Amino acid sequence: MSKASKRVLVTGGAGFIGSHSVEQLLASGYNVCVLDNLSTGKLTNLPHHDGLTFIKGDVCDLQAVKDAMQGASYCLHLAAQVSVVRSVEDPSSSAQQNILGCINVMQAAHEAGVNKLVYASSAAVYGNPRHLPIAETSTVCPLSPYGLEKWVDEQYAALFHTLYGLPSLGLRYFNVFGPRQDPKSPYAGVISKFFDCLIRKTSPTVFGDGRQTRDFIFVKDVARANIAALTSSHQGVCNVATGNRVDLLALLSLLHGVTGNYLPAVHLPSRDEDIRDSQGDTQRSRAWLDIQPQWTLNEGLKALYTATSETHAA
Ligand SMILES: NC(=O)c1ccc[n+]([C@@H]2O[C@H](COP(=O)([O-])OP(=O)(O)OC[C@H]3O[C@@H](n4cnc5c(N)ncnc54)[C@H](O)[C@@H]3O)[C@@H](O)[C@H]2O)c1
Repeated sequence: MSKASKRVLVTGGAGFIGSHSVEQLLASGYNVCVLDNLSTGKLTNLPHHDGLTFIKGDVCDLQAVKDAMQGASYCLHLAAQVSVVRSVEDPSSSAQQNILGCINVMQAAHEAGVNKLVYASSAAVYGNPRHLPIAETSTVCPLSPYGLEKWVDEQYAALFHTLYGLPSLGLRYFNVFGPRQDPKSPYAGVISKFFDCLIRKTSPTVFGDGRQTRDFIFVKDVARANIAALTSSHQGVCNVATGNRVDLLALLSLLHGVTGNYLPAVHLPSRDEDIRDSQGDTQRSRAWLDIQPQWTLNEGLKALYTATSETHAA
């Protein structure tokens, strides 16, 4: 069967990671159906393309998910309540979307007989790591309802495989950055927040000494990992990271170079919920997905700067 006749259902496809994944799926010749409730996603994130259909709907609505899943060969499940803070404030609503919504997708994928379900997990499942880089075999110890929800999803995926033979791969994304991540959201990643400050010529805020480290991966590399995972024969969970880490002050210095705006950070006390260091082990992703990141941090920051400047100019 050619890719053109293969349909992929992308839940949350109008969001940040989703829209980049949709673009790459279409460019690879797949037909794509997006199911999204547009709570944080935007229709303007999606391209106009004959191979793309959009359904406004919620993953908490099982019938809507079943309808959207019809005829799908693969499913990429990205729809979620993505805010760690909100999951702490309202754990019940967060669990409904992130656990029950995910179970709906698994049930519909199983009933439709999809070849593979790829779903978004998160490095948040690890909590504070004991060793770096963090391998998939490391202890799981989520620090928030959000991290726990992602881990519960992984357990359901394993059970659906055992009970019903549903093939799945859960991708534990590290810190994803790139165009279309909304900096105005209070939950946006640190890069889009720093970027927004420098472009508006205000000083970025750093919590603590700024020496905390993160593994930042460019969104187009994450989209490639998503697509590779759809046709991977492996079952289980897999990190999606670069294997590098950079501290926030070094990141800010790179951003100074990219934007030409040299505004120093304002330091506030560190926050209890922030982990100190994060760096993903990429051995499994290289072996299972046969890919490695193509974008360096600086290249990704430059691409983000170009895309942001174009948006501001438009
Ligand atoms: N961005 C990161 O750094 C990161 C890191 C780890 C994991 N993740 C996971 O990746 C996935 C995508 O995240 P993102 O950063 O692109 O966020 P995003 O908010 O841009 O995308 C989420 C999309 O899902 C949609 N959505 C939310 N709830 C829905 C529901 N109940 N039904 C249907 N659609 C719904 C939103 O409208 C949006 O389009 C999420 O599952 C998130 O938890 C993201």
